[in-house]
Formats: sequence, C-alpha cells, structure tokens
Amino acid sequence: MSKVGDIYEKLVDLGKRRGFFWPSYEIYGGVAGFIDLGPLGAILKRKIMEKWRKFFILRHQDIIVEIETPVINPSIVFEASGHVEHFTDPIVECTVCGRMFRADHLIEEKAKVKVEGLPPAEMSKIIVENDIKCPICSGKLGDVKLFNLLFKTTIGPYRGNVGYIRPEAAQGMFVSFKRVYETMRSKLPLGIAQIGRVARNEISPRQGMIRLREFTIMEFEFFFNPEKPGCPYVSEVADKKIRILTGEEKIKGGKPIEFTIQEALQEGVIVNEWLAYFMSLATELVSELGIPLEKQYFDEKLPHERAHYATQTFDQMVEVSRWGAVEVSGHAYRGTYDLHRHAVYSGQDLRAFEPYPNPKKVKVVEVVPDRERIKEVFGDKAEYIIRAIMLQKGEEVLKELREKGFIEVLETKVDKDLIKIVELEKTVSGNRFIPHVVEPSFGAERLVYVTLEHSYSVKGDRVVMRIPRDIAPISVAVFPLVSRDGIPEKAREIYESLKKVPLYVIYDESGSIGRRYARADEIGVPIAITVDYQTLKDNTVTLRNRDTWEQVRVHVDKVTKAVVDYIEKRVEFNELASY
Ligand code: GLY
Repeated sequence: MSKVGDIYEKLVDLGKRRGFFWPSYEIYGGVAGFIDLGPLGAILKRKIMEKWRKFFILRHQDIIVEIETPVINPSIVFEASGHVEHFTDPIVECTVCGRMFRADHLIEEKAKVKVEGLPPAEMSKIIVENDIKCPICSGKLGDVKLFNLLFKTTIGPYRGNVGYIRPEAAQGMFVSFKRVYETMRSKLPLGIAQIGRVARNEISPRQGMIRLREFTIMEFEFFFNPEKPGCPYVSEVADKKIRILTGEEKIKGGKPIEFTIQEALQEGVIVNEWLAYFMSLATELVSELGIPLEKQYFDEKLPHERAHYATQTFDQMVEVSRWGAVEVSGHAYRGTYDLHRHAVYSGQDLRAFEPYPNPKKVKVVEVVPDRERIKEVFGDKAEYIIRAIMLQKGEEVLKELREKGFIEVLETKVDKDLIKIVELEKTVSGNRFIPHVVEPSFGAERLVYVTLEHSYSVKGDRVVMRIPRDIAPISVAVFPLVSRDGIPEKAREIYESLKKVPLYVIYDESGSIGRRYARADEIGVPIAITVDYQTLKDNTVTLRNRDTWEQVRVHVDKVTKAVVDYIEKRVEFNELASY
C-alpha cells in the first residue's frame, strides 16, 4: 500500500461522497469554519471520544470525574477568566475593499517571518516595510488591531445582560470547582473533565476541519496541591517515548528531540510530573488512532505564543500532508490563574483545605489591606484588588514588598503604603491554598481529521481507509455472494445478529463482490463476511481482511465472537481461522 502526496482534496471528496464530513449550510453556499459530520464521521468521532474517556477518565475514575456545564456563560465568567481582555487575534482590514484578514497569518505567508504574539503596532510596521497588500484586490491595508474571538449574545430579553458562548469548556470546571471538590470528599488531586461544544469567532478560517468556528473540545482540569506535585503513575510511563520540540531548540531552528518521560522530567523539559504523565497518555492515544510516534511531537510554546493563563504549554502536533503539522491537543500548566481570578471576581473562597493531623501553633504573616486608601486609589477596581491581596500568602507578600516596594495583583501595582503586615502566632488546623492546575485539552474534530489522513492509503487502484479497527465507523460488512438460492436470507440472519451485539454493520447486496469489497475498503470497514454456496453446505462463511485482503473461513456459530475479538480485542486475523 502506498501513501500519496497532498491528500486533503481527496479526503474532502471522500468525506462528501461517503458521508464522513462536508461544509455546513452547503445549500446556502456554505459558511467558513463550520462542518457537518455525516453518518460515518459522527460514529468515528463518537468512538474517538469514547477512547479518550477510557484513557483519561475511566482509567483514573477515582480521581477524574466528568461534568457538563452550559455553553452560554454570563459575561462575568469570561471577564474573570481574562478572555474578554486577552482572547484576541490580530486583524487587518483592506482600506479599499473592506475585507478582513488574520494579520499574523498574512504576514507569515507574504513576508515569511513568524510574528505570532507580536504587538499590533509591530505587525503594522512589518506590513508597511514589506509592502504587503490586500491579497484579494491589492489595496492598501490599514493598521493591525486586535479582534476578540468570543461569540457574544444576550441572555434573555435584556440588552445589557451580555453572555458569551464558551471558547473552552475549562471555565465550567473552574466555576464549579468548589461543588465538585466537595462532592469528591474535598480531596486532591482531582481532575474535572468535560466533553462539549465550544465556539471561537475565527477571523478567516481556511483549513476545513482543522480551524473551526464551532467544535467539540475534550478537556480536563487537573487540580493538585503544589507542595505535593508528584504523580504516582509516572513510573508506569517512565520509559515511554515522547518527541518534543523544546522552546530552546525551536529558537535555534531545530527539530523535535526524542525523550523518555523520565528524561524529559529529569532534564526539566517538562516542569510537572502530572503534565508529563498526561502527555505520555496523549501520545499513546494518538498512536492508537493510527499515527506513529515519528509523525507526532509536542511543540513547546514560547512565552509570547502561550495563552494568557499558562506558564508552560506544549501543543501536541500531528503531521498532515497539506499543512505540515497541526495541533490536536494542548497541555498547559495553568497554575492558580483561573481559580484565583474566579475567587477574586466572585468573592467566594475557592481554596482547597488539607487538615494537619493535629492543629499546630505557627507564626503567620497576615496581610491587611488599607481598604479606604485602596478605594481612593483604585476606585471601581478596589474590591477586586483587596480580594486579590487577601488571597496571597502572607510570606510571599512580605517578600515581594521587601524586594520591590510594591506587589503586583491583577496586573496592577499596589504600593507598600496601602498594605499593612501583621506577624502573629496562631493555632491552625490545616493548609488552605489555591490548587495548581494542569490541563490536557483535545479538539475532537482535529483528531477525526488526522485519523482520516493517516488512514488513507491506496492499494492497486483502490482507496483503502486503514482506520484502526476499534474506531472504524462500520465494524463489519455482510455480503451475500449472489442474490438467489437462499444466500441473501442466510446473510441477513448474520447481519441481524451482529446488529444486536451491538456492532455497526452494513449489508450490501448490489453489484459484483469485488465492487462491494472496494466500497467497504473505501470507508474503512475492517472485516467483511461473505455468505456463499459453501455456507449452504457446511455453515461456514468467508472473513476478509480489509488491509491484506486475506480470507479465512469461520463457522457461522463462531462468526460473532470472531468479529468482536478482531475488532475489540485486537486478535490477529489469521487466528480467526481456528475459531
Ligand atoms: N482550554 C484550552 C483552550 O482553550 O485551548
């Protein structure tokens, strides 16, 4: 079997013809950034989602739980999360035709320089220096501005009641942290997961299924005590391989380097054991979608490439034929950023509490903000600033004040004159702290796309989608060799019993057997059953392997077990002959 160059258009054609995916709203001319999943695409996505659940939730169900929260959020949630301020992309408008373009992408395409994360003024300068014009009408481009990607709406009939469609599921987990933490007996570590729809108002999405304005995210926030950052499972994956394009190597123009998980941790490439453990699982998950290690790597984001909430981020990249490599998941160390911000904005105590075995007498440093003065200086923002100061650890505030003469909270400097420090002895019963968070986050449609790309192969003059057996949308096809002599009836019996397993099965009676095999290969059906004249004699059927086209005969009574074992238990095809 061979792979063939840029296969994007071939997949688009296959997607439409056979029902994997197509552009949404086609009858109205389509809208960029939206796709429909067809009957096969929808099953493939569901099977990938189930695999993700098995990897991250079921295997860790004692510490990772799944919740569901709303897609539409009140404005305050994304003010607190920083998305209203920071969730932006640079945009540039043509002064002649009025078309809008994603400024960084346009510059990278025309001037061949990386500008992700640069301030708008610098991008404007590069556009002028390189004489970049509107790619549609060659008109003069205006200044680069920031465009917020949140979809805005109103909640109920009140215009002032602004809501946003969530751009990530994560905020649902932060907002509900306290509830889930309490239902899980107030224990850490704790992962809160969610699979759901999100939306991002991308400026000019042009990469089909890769850059969507609405998609399904699968992510979890993993909360832990920063004083106990160890992951007990890391030893299980210590020798597993992972490829990382480190920040250092990226700056030098280097390539991804292979590490074992243990090496990546020992060399400080990954800062946290949980992050490393989940990155190892992510590698294994993507491998199970049919993508070998050498076609995937983690790209360490440089500070200016990272989201506003992250202190370390790795994007998991998969090579594809048209775009080089695309991100399928992000692994971010979000620290205390989100819970801290929600505690400040909501006024609720979102800290975790770990009791000491016995109460202890300890020296504590208490921070007492001068409320009146802070109100005078900061006006409307004062209440948030006071809460943010109160959430700081006293020792850290003292240290920062001594070093700098001010502390920085909510991107604001607060002078030492506005804060009183009191040192006293107190009996305390435990440690109250804001948990740290690591977040693995996957795009479901992107996983579907890379699975399809890496499944695509050609054998002779046929396309064979070698989708891994356990996630192939249709598990098995049933064909009567001919449409007479009681053969279709026998085949239908088998078809009906396989549906009840339950398995996704197709029954196809039309055209030559060769054409039927070809149709099944093209949608990646891993195994086909053919009922023929011999079946009428000895009750055996032919099983045919999609990838090798080999055939074995199996007794009808054993066919269900053979198919299930092949699809779900990864039994070798040749072993089915002895069933
Ligand atoms: N929560 C991950 C992201 O927003 O991409």
